[in-house]
This record gives sequence, C-alpha cells and structure tokens, in this order.
Amino acid sequence: MPEVNLLARYPRAKRNIAARLTHKEENRAVAMQFGREYFDGTREQGYGGYRYDGRWIPVAEDIVRHFGLKAGDRVLDVGCAKGFLVKDLMKIQPGLEVFGIDVSEYAVMHAEAELAGRLHVGNAVHLPFPDGSFAAVLSINTIHNLDRDGCLRALKEMERVAPGRGYVQVDAYRTAAERKVFEDWMLTARTYGTPEDWVAILREAGYTGDYFWTILEVDPEWTIT
Ligand SMILES: C[S@@+](CC[C@H](N)C(=O)[O-])C[C@H]1O[C@@H](n2cnc3c(N)ncnc32)[C@H](O)[C@@H]1O
Repeated sequence: MPEVNLLARYPRAKRNIAARLTHKEENRAVAMQFGREYFDGTREQGYGGYRYDGRWIPVAEDIVRHFGLKAGDRVLDVGCAKGFLVKDLMKIQPGLEVFGIDVSEYAVMHAEAELAGRLHVGNAVHLPFPDGSFAAVLSINTIHNLDRDGCLRALKEMERVAPGRGYVQVDAYRTAAERKVFEDWMLTARTYGTPEDWVAILREAGYTGDYFWTILEVDPEWTIT
C-alpha cells in the first residue's frame, strides 16, 4: 500500500480564498448537490466552469506507467465527473477500456458524446461491477465527500473490484495553517483529517491499493485575507 503522488504533474490552480468566505453556507449547500452550479456555476459555488483542456494527460501517462496498463485492460474512475480522465487515459493508451461512475447526473449528462456508454450515474459506496473486474480503480478527490462510514464502504468497494490495484486521493492537511486554508476553501468534504487519520481509515477498510493527499499549502499567490 504505497504512498505515491500520481497527480504530481496536475497544474496548480490560483484560489481566491477570501471570495469563498462570502455566502459560504449557501454555496456549500448548493455545491453538495453536485449539479450545474457545482460544475458550471460561479467559482464560489465550485469549479466555476468545468471544461476539458487536456490537463489530465500527464496524469493519465503517469497512471498508465504506474499500473503497467495495456490495451484490453479495464480501468474504473470513481467520481469521474464529466470523464476527462477517462477520455485522456484512452487517448494516451489506445485499446484501454476505461469507465467512470459518478453520483452527478448533471456531470454524466454533460460529458462529451465520445464517452457515451462509458460513464454511469452511481454511488462510490456501491460499485455495480463484479469482483476483480478491473485492472485498476481510481478515485480522485471524491470519497472525502462521504461520511466516515461511506468512506469505508467506498474503499472496500474499490478493493473488491480491483484488489490491491487502487489509487485514491483525498483532501488532507498537516498543520493548523493548512487546516485553516482547507476549511475556508472546501465546499463539499465531509470526512477530512491528516494523512495519518486517512491511513487509519484505509487500514480499517482493508484497502491495499495506493494513495495520496490533496493538500492546500498556504500559497502567497492566493488571496487569503
Ligand atoms: C472534486 S470532484 C472530482 C472530480 C474528478 N475526479 C477530478 O478529480 O477532477 C468530486 C466528484 O465526486 C463526485 N461524487 C461526490 N460524491 C460521490 C459519491 N458518493 N459517489 C460517486 N461520486 C461522487 C461529484 O459528483 C464530483 O464529480
């Protein structure tokens, strides 16, 4: 169960933390529905426009290399949103069979037409696939949106469909300063803590795949006051 950062080449975003503090509770309630506002509403409500721009291509390359994925292998992305990673994995490894599942009907309904049939509306706590049916299962910045029991169930499901062949990334913080930035910024997370807290959850779930953290480090370029 190695700690490995497969998102090392994902670009960093500029964040206006101060703007997020306005109407935080209303925006949080809207964001947690994972509908249009979360993906394509304002930045205060979520992504502020979730559009394909190829930023997942380097991450897809690292995932294919890390898991030694080849044509014919099946991969599942849990919390796939509009399927950008699904698309890019198939782009950089032709013949790979990539699928996604997401609780957001809005996201799945607004995926590119080329992904039709590959993305499904569903919940991470119940993956409607047979045991061991994937060569790798990914879940990036998704399961922290569940409560602790839901996280355990989702991790068990990942382990079931691809034993020892998972990659999960979740929000975390290491210091009080990082926790403050995280709590000011985040809209939808229900379970969060330090990397050590998460390792305890991974172990409790019997998860044996790989993992890493999304940590909002205090960045002087962000507007935080
Ligand atoms: C921060 S986005 C991450 C999307 C994508 N994985 C990425 O990294 O860009 C969180 C995603 O998790 C999905 N989600 C939230 N709760 C979920 C659940 N219980 N089961 C499946 N997907 C869920 C949301 O709809 C959203 O697409």
